Order: sequence, then structure tokens, then C-alpha cells
Amino acid sequence: MHCVILLTLGICLVSVPSILAQDPIGLRVSATLRDIRLGTAVLVDNLQKNVDGGKYIANIKKNYQWVVAEVGMKPKQIWIGENKYNWATGDWLIGSPSNPIGWIQQNGLQLRGHNLLWPGNNFMPTWLLQQESSITPDKAKSLLEDYITTVVTRYRGKIAGWDVVNEAIDDYDSSRPFNLRDSFWFRKLGRDFIKYAFIFAHNADPNVELFYNEYGIERTSLKANRTLELVNWLKSEGVTVHGVGMQWHIDVSKTVTPGDSYYQNAQRFIDQGFDILVTELDISVPMRNGKPINPADIQKQGVLYRSVLQYALHFHPKCHGLLTWGFTDRYSWIPSFSNNTKGDALPLDASYVPKPGYFQMQEELARVLADGVYCLSPKSQPNKCLGVSSDVSSGNIQLYDGTCTNDNQKWNISWLDDGTYRLSPLSANTRALSAYNVTSTVGGVQTTFWSFNDNQEWVLTSAENKVYRVGPRGAWLRVMTVISGTADVRIVDYTSTNEQNWILTSI
Ligand SMILES: *[C@@H]1O[C@H](CO)[C@@H](O)[C@H](O)[C@H]1NC(C)=O
Ligand SMILES: *[C@@H]1O[C@H](CO)[C@@H](O)[C@H](O)[C@H]1NC(C)=O
Ligand SMILES: *[C@@H]1O[C@H](CO)[C@@H](O)[C@H](O)[C@H]1NC(C)=O
Ligand SMILES: *[C@@H]1O[C@H](CO)[C@@H](O)[C@H](O)[C@H]1NC(C)=O
Repeated sequence: MHCVILLTLGICLVSVPSILAQDPIGLRVSATLRDIRLGTAVLVDNLQKNVDGGKYIANIKKNYQWVVAEVGMKPKQIWIGENKYNWATGDWLIGSPSNPIGWIQQNGLQLRGHNLLWPGNNFMPTWLLQQESSITPDKAKSLLEDYITTVVTRYRGKIAGWDVVNEAIDDYDSSRPFNLRDSFWFRKLGRDFIKYAFIFAHNADPNVELFYNEYGIERTSLKANRTLELVNWLKSEGVTVHGVGMQWHIDVSKTVTPGDSYYQNAQRFIDQGFDILVTELDISVPMRNGKPINPADIQKQGVLYRSVLQYALHFHPKCHGLLTWGFTDRYSWIPSFSNNTKGDALPLDASYVPKPGYFQMQEELARVLADGVYCLSPKSQPNKCLGVSSDVSSGNIQLYDGTCTNDNQKWNISWLDDGTYRLSPLSANTRALSAYNVTSTVGGVQTTFWSFNDNQEWVLTSAENKVYRVGPRGAWLRVMTVISGTADVRIVDYTSTNEQNWILTSI
């Protein structure tokens, strides 16, 4: 049962149905069932302080499978001198050699590493820049090797993937190869610094995924072309590069549609053998006095969040994830970066209330079936169907012979806006399919009067064309099954058998 906790009063109220239906099951559940990873950048300070009465952490755990540190794991923060490192953030997140469990493991999440090398002068360790004139190219190469080897080795086996090089390419045409920025590393080593960075990272952890991460390369453009040329060159040199992170800091004026230059651009990276990732998505809207200039932009933003998620799903598994750069408008780099002319860029508002962008993503991930009246047959017995007893008030359900001819065997399936579905017998729309004992080895299924109960809310997962897993919200990794050789319907762990997959035929 959903519950509204009134912290000030310390009591738990059962709220009215319209509010209950708004509590989303969470993007994490829906993304997990779609086999795509969603993530967010986090401020480790907020985690450590457990800010906002726990809402910051609770929303991360509810919605994401992986996180990336917005600050704290970049060279400027870790590399404080030659052979001197500040491990505070990384160790707290994923543990140190002496204490191998960090916040990430404790909370069942995964970490992306960001980043090993960020060549822009502003992002370089100051001590290194100060010594530039006395550092030879050979010394620069050995410093780079020391740093990357030390960091990647320390977190070997614990990090899902690293952004090895971040934002190395200029926004404008230049005479440098691949339009690389003028940087300490370029001045010392030329274009080879990028090659060395990937080689050192791969040598230190041959199993970790290595990405080149960049902004402004989402569409075909000069900068995207240079990026593709860069990674193709690395590949031709025998260097391991798994993929390209496209940051996706965009604004609400954009549209993303299948076949457009965003899709064409992703496709050509994939055709050349690279994975892509959406690494830093946010969608800013023009602001004045802390408010959107055009309130309708928040709806447009919602549609655009969905479009980018559809893009990621389209290229899945070559695009295996999407991360946003933060998740609540309470903490975002956009307002200060734009001198408050842009903002409100994330899926939750500053009070952690889901915005249209959140619901659009929830729906895109979880709404896998159109509302309608359906017959449900297990794939193992397609000539039988799920039905309620002719004594509807008994609540009993079972598998019946025949093909779903009467209203006791037809199910009115309707989407609930919170990522789940209601299934009501057509003969008794005030009742709904309801699971019980959902966490017992074998749970049960019946019908009960509809009351917005968790046990009456179902997640549907598409297994193949017209075939679905049907799982109770309260135990969403489990499924409704028919017990072999009987007419009994139960809740069990999913093992992908035909008894557990239901053919849903629209009537
Ligand atoms: C980028 O590359 C594509 C494909 O080679 C080419 O058609 C396009 O003109 C290039 N764009 C720019 C701005 O160089
Ligand atoms: C930032 O915005 C304020 C208020 O509009 C303005 O006075 C100030 O000049 C702006 N600063 C910059 C650096 O653009
Ligand atoms: C299905 O259920 C929904 C939600 O209660 C209801 O609005 C709709 O009218 C029902 N459809 C049918 C065909 O009974
Ligand atoms: C759930 O299981 C318990 C025993 O573990 C049983 O007493 C209870 O009646 C079951 N619930 C329902 C709704 O049947």
C-alpha cells in the first residue's frame, strides 16, 4: 500500500486514490526491465551530508542504476602533485584498498569514472601548468602514465567504464590535428597524448570500458566529424576505444526524430564499430527571475526527454545507457553557468517533484501495451485463458479451457501513469487482478475490489511480439505463472519459461 509519510506528525496516512496513482514505480525498475541503464551525475557532498531530509539519495536509488561523480574524480581534484593524490571522493564512493566497500556498493549502484584526462587549461592541475616550461615531452608522458595507471589500478574491477579523455576537441576549425584544443598535453605530446591515455588505461584494467567524451557532437557537424576521425585514428593505431560519450547538453528548442541528423550521426559511429552513450543529458529552458520565460517549455522539455530516451533505446544495445547531468533542478550547473538565463533543465523540480520529463521517460520505458480489452493465455497453453470464477465475488481466478469467449475471461487493461497497469475482469470492472504473498516462494493471485493497492498494480515487460511478462509492483522481478499441468496461477521468480510468458490478444 502506498503511504504518505507526514514527517512533522510522524504518522502515515493512506491518501486519496488520485494522489496514490501519481507515485511512480521509478525509472530504475522500468529501465531494468527494459535492459537499459539509466544514470545521473551526483554531488558527493550531498550524498555525504544526506541532504534534504534524505530525498536526494532516495531519488537516486529510486530512479538510477549508475552514477557518475559530477566533481571529485577529475584530475584537477585527484592529482594534487607529482605522485600525490587526493582519494577522498573516489574512495568514499567505491572503497579503498583497505576498505573495499563504498557508498556505491552499499546501495547496489554502479559507478562511471569521469574523467582521466581533461585537457582544457582550466581543468588541468595548477601545479602541472606552473611547471610546464621545465617538463620535457618524455617527462610529460611518464607523468601521464603514472597518473592514469595509478587511478585506474586503484579502482580496477569496480568501475563500469571510464571517460578516458574529456572534451579534447575545439569548437572551431584549427590547424591542429582533429581540431584538438591547444593544451598542456598537446604542446608536450601532440595528438599522441590521446593515444597514450587510452593505452595506459587499458593496460591498467583490460576489462574496463573506455570512452571518449565530448559535448556538441550529437548531430553531424564539424566537431562530430573530427571526433569520428579521432576515434577512427585511435582504432587504426590498435588502441582500445569502446565508444564515444555524447554529452547532450541541449536546450528546449531542439527536436530529435528518427532519421534526423542526431540519428544519422549516432549510426555512423556505430557503423564504424563504436558504442555510443548519452552521458550528460540536460535540457535547459530560457529563464527570467528564476522562472521559465515560457511556462509551456516544461511540457516541450518533457517530450524532448522522451525523444532522447527513444533515441537511446533505438540504438540499444550499441547505446547501453543514458545519464543525466543531475536529476533535480535544485542542483544543476546550468543556472550559474548561464548567469541565470537558463535553467530548470532536469526531470525533477527543485522540490524533487517529478516534471513532465520524468513522466515521459517513465511512460516510454514502461508503457509497452496499449490500453484495451485482452485475452491472456500462457505461451505454454495458448488454447487456454486466464479467467475469473463465474462466482465473481469469490475472487478466484484460474486458467480456463477455450479461447476467451465470455466476459469473465476478458481483461480490461489500463495504464496508470505511475509505470504500472490495472487489469480488471470485463465482467467486474470494480475488481482487479491482485497478487498476494508476493515475496513467498510461491505467491498467489486473485481479484479484489480496486483500491490502488500495490498488489493490484502490474508491470508488463515485452518478451517478444504480443508476449509479455506480468509482474506485481511489489515484487517486480517476479511474475505471474501457470503451474505446469494444472489450472493454478501463482507468483514465482522469473526463469523465462513458457508458463511465465503470457500471450496478450487484443479483443
Ligand atoms: C561531416 O562529414 C560528413 C560525412 O563525411 C560530410 O558530408 C559533412 O559535410 C561534414 N560536415 C562538416 C561540417 O565538415
Ligand atoms: C549576469 O546577469 C546580471 C543580471 O541580469 C547582469 O547584471 C550581469 O551583468 C550579468 N553578468 C554577466 C557576466 O553577464
Ligand atoms: C477499463 O477500465 C478503465 C479504468 O477503470 C475504465 O475507464 C474503462 O471504461 C474500462 N473499459 C471497459 C471496456 O470496461
Ligand atoms: C499468505 O500466506 C500466509 C501463510 O504464509 C497465509 O496465512 C495467508 O492467508 C496468505 N494470504 C492470502 C491472501 O491467502
